[in-house]
Amino acid sequence: MLTNMKSHFPVFENNPNLIYLDSGATSQKPRTVIDAIRDFYEKHNANIHRGIYSLSVRSTQKYEESKGKVARFIKARSPSEIVYTKNATEGLNLVMYSLAGRIREGDEIVITISEHHANLVPWQQLAKRKRAILKYIDVDEEGRLNLKDARQKITGRTRIVAINHVSNVTGVIHPVEEVISMAKKVGAITVVDACQSVPHIPVDVRKMGADFVAFSGHKMLGPTGIGVLWGREEFLKEMEPFLFGGDMIETVELYESTWNDIPMKFEAGTPPIAEAVGLSAAVDFLNGIGMEEVYEHERRITEYVLDKLLSMDHIVLYGPRTPEDRIAIFTFNVKGLHAHDVAQFLDYRGIATRSGHHCAQPLLRRLGAEGTSTVRASFYIYNDSRDADALIEALKEVKKYVG
Ligand SMILES: Cc1ncc(COP(=O)(O)O)c(C=O)c1O
Repeated sequence: MLTNMKSHFPVFENNPNLIYLDSGATSQKPRTVIDAIRDFYEKHNANIHRGIYSLSVRSTQKYEESKGKVARFIKARSPSEIVYTKNATEGLNLVMYSLAGRIREGDEIVITISEHHANLVPWQQLAKRKRAILKYIDVDEEGRLNLKDARQKITGRTRIVAINHVSNVTGVIHPVEEVISMAKKVGAITVVDACQSVPHIPVDVRKMGADFVAFSGHKMLGPTGIGVLWGREEFLKEMEPFLFGGDMIETVELYESTWNDIPMKFEAGTPPIAEAVGLSAAVDFLNGIGMEEVYEHERRITEYVLDKLLSMDHIVLYGPRTPEDRIAIFTFNVKGLHAHDVAQFLDYRGIATRSGHHCAQPLLRRLGAEGTSTVRASFYIYNDSRDADALIEALKEVKKYVG
């Protein structure tokens, strides 16, 4: 397991009793990321791509450097395939709106029952607007993707297949490569929600084979306000822009406009410049550890926590009961108690977890979660076995104090 990681994160210095188990929602930020953002505002702040004065040139360089780093981090062919958005949700909406023109009545859009609402509602709305057919690939009782069902659902009429790489509820790492290859065989466009994979496991977008991959900076040690959409160059070049305005144009006439090159065509208005600088520092931090090491840490935590959770009869776990092909996210209920009461009790012990539907209501229903309210404990690089022990000890005692 990684050790002494908390010392890099000021939030733990300022909240010495905090046991933060909500990284699935957003990660904490290392000092280097916070410093990089401050340094940018103090020394280099100017708008980008507009000024020919040195400060603006420097600021532009920092923004472009950030794209280069992110491109290398996910093994993209070129930084021109990296579009910065507000968050992953915006990236997924961008793809949906820009591809909408290709969808006709009766076409099929295939997603999975285990999607976060960010990769579900946009496709549901597109299907409604276009009278297309929305199909869901099922999962098994533990939330693992049913590949047999995928083979049946993806047909010659499928135009888009959108799938999450790692579930934010069960932590399952889905075999996206297999689903993508099924989609490719029928000529469908593939979109991957990588929000919970890019921060936790090595991701190579070219090996994965998808056409689009979206994720958020704030879940991978970066600041809020920046998301990444990677798109295959040939698609980005062909696609219609999503937002219109400054920076994304080449020429503007009174009644016509032409578009800038990619990726600027998709970045209307002032982009998240300081956030890009922060994300760059986040990538440096993760590279400093190594993504293989990050994943190894998750695996060790998973083995440690899973064993203990499964030994408690009063805990109902939603998700795999085995440690393979998953990250350290645990969604559960305490028999007889409401998830909010459990989360509140954990908070009294300084343990921050999330309770509710985790923006994945259809999945929770599929997994049989009562009332679709559950507690989720999600671990990251700064969590260690002591954090896990604190959670387990609190869960052993929760029924004594609540209910
Ligand atoms: C799997 C998954 N997809 C999409 C999102 C949406 O991310 P954001 O709110 O940063 O757009 C999340 C956030 O929780 C997520 O876990």
